[in-house]
Amino acid sequence: MSLDDKATKPHDRLAEALAAEMSAVNDLIRARMSSEHAPRIPEVTAHLIEAGGKRLRPMLTLAAARMLGYDGPYHVHLAATVEFIHTATLLHDDVVDESQQRRGRPTANLLWDNKSSVLVGDYLLARGFQLMTETDNMRVLNILSNASAVIAEGEVLQLTAAQDLRTDEGIYLQVIRGKTAALFSAATEVGGVIAGGTDAQVQALFEYGDALGIAFQMVDDLLDYGGSAAETGKNVGDDFRERKVTLPVIKAVAAADAAERAFWSRVIEKGKQEPGDLEEALALMAKHGALEATKAEAIAWADKARAALAALPDHPLRAMLDDLADFVVARVR
Ligand code: IPE
Ligand code: IPE
Ligand code: MG
Ligand code: MG
Repeated sequence: MSLDDKATKPHDRLAEALAAEMSAVNDLIRARMSSEHAPRIPEVTAHLIEAGGKRLRPMLTLAAARMLGYDGPYHVHLAATVEFIHTATLLHDDVVDESQQRRGRPTANLLWDNKSSVLVGDYLLARGFQLMTETDNMRVLNILSNASAVIAEGEVLQLTAAQDLRTDEGIYLQVIRGKTAALFSAATEVGGVIAGGTDAQVQALFEYGDALGIAFQMVDDLLDYGGSAAETGKNVGDDFRERKVTLPVIKAVAAADAAERAFWSRVIEKGKQEPGDLEEALALMAKHGALEATKAEAIAWADKARAALAALPDHPLRAMLDDLADFVVARVR
């Protein structure tokens, strides 16, 4: 990729358009992520938060509010809350998934321990909630607290759907809509609400975030098989090792013959994985076009996200959100 390509990435353009407010969001995050009483907290939060991350979700909140003409201060609080909720779920998720890499760094559970990750995750979630109460807006409190419950439900549903080849595309959609899309849609929705958008505008923002989040997670699940650690900052093959029944697996299993089914049953249901099994899984996915089919579904959701934008005012930020939907799936194009 050339430097020019990088400079024109939708994600970077959005970051540039929202630079002043994003810097206020980052200042607020930094001010609230530490603790005077427990030194472990700033150690862990600095490790994860200073590693960066794309800051996609807070940018969605800022963009939604600005697009609807908001000129008050509270979209910054909401954007920081959204990133706190996100960071808390990552700390917990890496414990649950026993992951070793996040944002190109060793995970907190690896550098410290599971106890620190769980408790600092709780702390960040609570700090986010404190921040959102400062807006004095019951509707946004309702949306963000609801999203936090739905994220946890999605993660727990995934626990029982994993290692079970009866998991179908309907259950998969329910899982990813909960664990991932719920925060994207809450991020865009609260931006619209704080700006005083009409019901139709707020609904459109919700639909954009929901579809974008679904496309985003489908691509993430694809990259877990077809990507590289250099691209994602996370280990490839984690989902296979964790025996998760993600969309590429569901599609390969649906097309499997008896011998292939026995393979999937051994590695996913019985968990008897041997060296070379990940390569075999990839070969079966290639044989049945499972990664291509997953990509096609992600693109369809990205198109759905873009279609939702039609109900929103013509605005430079709207065009950037349109491009962002393409960008999310372009990671695998
Ligand atoms: C990671 O989200 C969690 C998923 C929903 C797949 P991001 O890829 O947005 O994480 P960061 O914040 O940029 O690290
Ligand atoms: C991400 O789930 C969703 C949440 C953090 C709630 P994953 O487990 O699929 O995401 P990565 O691959 O670890 O980022
Ligand atoms: Mg994970
Ligand atoms: Mg997970």
